[in-house]
Amino acid sequence: MALYRMDTLMRDARSKGIALGAFECWESLNIQGIARASAMCKTPVIFQASPAEYRTMGGADALADMVKFYVRKYDVDAALHLDHGSAIEHVQECVDAGFTSVMLDASAMVFEENVRLSAEAAKIAHGANISLEAELGHVSGGDSGSNNESALTVPAEVVEFVKRTQVDCLAVSIGTVHGDYRGEPKLHLDLLREIASLVDTPLVLHGGSGTPIDQLHAAIKLGIAKINICTDIHKAFLRGMEEAKGSLTPSVPGNYYVPALNNMIEKTVEMIKLFNFSA
Ligand code: 13P
Repeated sequence: MALYRMDTLMRDARSKGIALGAFECWESLNIQGIARASAMCKTPVIFQASPAEYRTMGGADALADMVKFYVRKYDVDAALHLDHGSAIEHVQECVDAGFTSVMLDASAMVFEENVRLSAEAAKIAHGANISLEAELGHVSGGDSGSNNESALTVPAEVVEFVKRTQVDCLAVSIGTVHGDYRGEPKLHLDLLREIASLVDTPLVLHGGSGTPIDQLHAAIKLGIAKINICTDIHKAFLRGMEEAKGSLTPSVPGNYYVPALNNMIEKTVEMIKLFNFSA
């Protein structure tokens, strides 16, 4: 049991007709929770964090050490991925820290700039024998996203983007948003079908939280092999803290944090099982 390249795990998931959960890491308790959920489900998992998140934890190297520790302790197969890196420096610091995958997100930029930055990031990632994720089209919203409006992936750009960037995993914009939906979620499944018919690059869905499970299952059947989740597991964690407030004893921190951890594990297990679906 160890850390693998993310594209390797995604291709394996795809061959089984399932998707892997990619869960946001924000501190050591929740990293432990993701590892335990993965072990309970006997299913590989992707640990991921944006630069803001790993800096909160003390740096990319601190996150990498924590993830490696829990992967060993709970004996799970996993990838460690940079989520929404926005500069080449982010890619480099995660390569140096031993991540097994990185995302360079230039999706809010014009096509040529997205190609240029993604291709540069791919060279660095491939030089370290790890995978690169990039996004074509733009998934908006939420704390972890940008303030830009969503832009759906344009099928006519897909083949050229993949060819020129040599990206290993492609994040597509088909109607999800980061964080809570403002209206009724409705995935553009015909668009996903068309994209999946054009390339065999494993496909990523950002903004998984709050998306109806029947739509997620349809997306998995059409080719999504990784679903990003932050809001739903963070909400479960916060709910645990809220419920524990009544029994809060300042001298016994565990009374407060253990219910939060347990709630988060329960939600993570639920999501891994929902994605571990084959028709
Ligand atoms: P949610 O917060 O909507 O689950 O999205 C997470 C995400 O896509 C991180 O990249």
